[in-house]
Amino acid sequence: MGTGPRPRPGVLDIDKYVGGGSGLDDDARVINIASNESALGPSPLAVEAYRAASDRMHVYPDGDSLRLRQRLAEQHQLDIDGIVCGAGSDELLTLLGRAYAGPGDEIVYSAHGFLMYSIIARSVGALPVAAPEWALTTDVDAVLAKVNERTRVVYLANPNNPTGSYVTSSEMARLQSALPDRVLLVLDAAYAEFIHASDYDPGGALVAAHDNVVMVRTFSKVYGLAALRVGWLYGPAAVVDAVNRIRSPFNLSTPAQAAAGAALEDEAHRDRAIANNDTVRPWFTARLEDLGLIVNPSVGNFVLVQFPDSDGQDAAAAFGALRQRGILTRRMGAYGLPTWLRMSIGSEVDMAQVVETLAEFRSGHDV
Ligand SMILES: Cc1ncc(COP(=O)(O)O)c(C=O)c1O
Repeated sequence: MGTGPRPRPGVLDIDKYVGGGSGLDDDARVINIASNESALGPSPLAVEAYRAASDRMHVYPDGDSLRLRQRLAEQHQLDIDGIVCGAGSDELLTLLGRAYAGPGDEIVYSAHGFLMYSIIARSVGALPVAAPEWALTTDVDAVLAKVNERTRVVYLANPNNPTGSYVTSSEMARLQSALPDRVLLVLDAAYAEFIHASDYDPGGALVAAHDNVVMVRTFSKVYGLAALRVGWLYGPAAVVDAVNRIRSPFNLSTPAQAAAGAALEDEAHRDRAIANNDTVRPWFTARLEDLGLIVNPSVGNFVLVQFPDSDGQDAAAAFGALRQRGILTRRMGAYGLPTWLRMSIGSEVDMAQVVETLAEFRSGHDV
């Protein structure tokens, strides 16, 4: 062991988050369905706003993202004072962990919840505590059973990535009412725009009614701005105050603020992205089922697909065969789901290509 500076306890226990980046030759045509990005890309209005902001590179951005927060408040009918913008929802999720938990504390999440929650717990020195799921769905009673006097934060993605399942608004209300007031319930609604279920709510109503709930949203998914890193949260005054004290003062660049604002106003583009998902996801799901694969029911812009645990036909082999054809999916070992691959819903043309490749793979043809 050297004598140099050492990170504090817990940091070296973290397995670095590995994204779904391509790693393939840039020139090759790649169908990237590994990161739940938008099938349609960004709104042209967002691209225009991004370009128009480029002549202000020498000036610091508005540290309060005021214009963007105004637009969010108007569109979502929320109190602007409850909104904080961040560099992706990842930043906001992390800031919440930092503000509310530390060494000796516990952070609870659902067993197949978004990977960042356990990373955040370890990064702040808290203990990550996974609650078992029922049928790849968050189990409110199992979450509550993990809550004790050391619990500070509960993170739930709703809908959840990677399972694609969701918790109904009545179940979420039941969870909130059974949680001690000192436990912060973080509702990560990154995929809220894709779900149409009448018994779903992204969390705004719970935030308005309680002091221990915060909702986190992103522009990386339906708005197609993943590269710009724009997220936002809606929370009670005390949570907003805490996050504003510890975030970096200029966390959102001027082009990012401008592009997100323009994206928000292009409702037609957003609706096309949702319509694409509504059409392609059931079609893709049915084709995979025709091929004898198990697809977990999903309300998001992705599906979790299970492969048989047999040589040459398992998830690793499927991943490799698809990759060889320039199709990037996400392996799920890090989520404790090694027999599954996660596939985002792309355009109709791209997903037809994925089906064709998987059909060849399943029939044992050379791919
Ligand atoms: C559930 C969930 N929350 C948060 C994020 C992070 O999104 P962002 O790009 O806003 O940091 C993701 C990204 O995949 C996600 O799936």
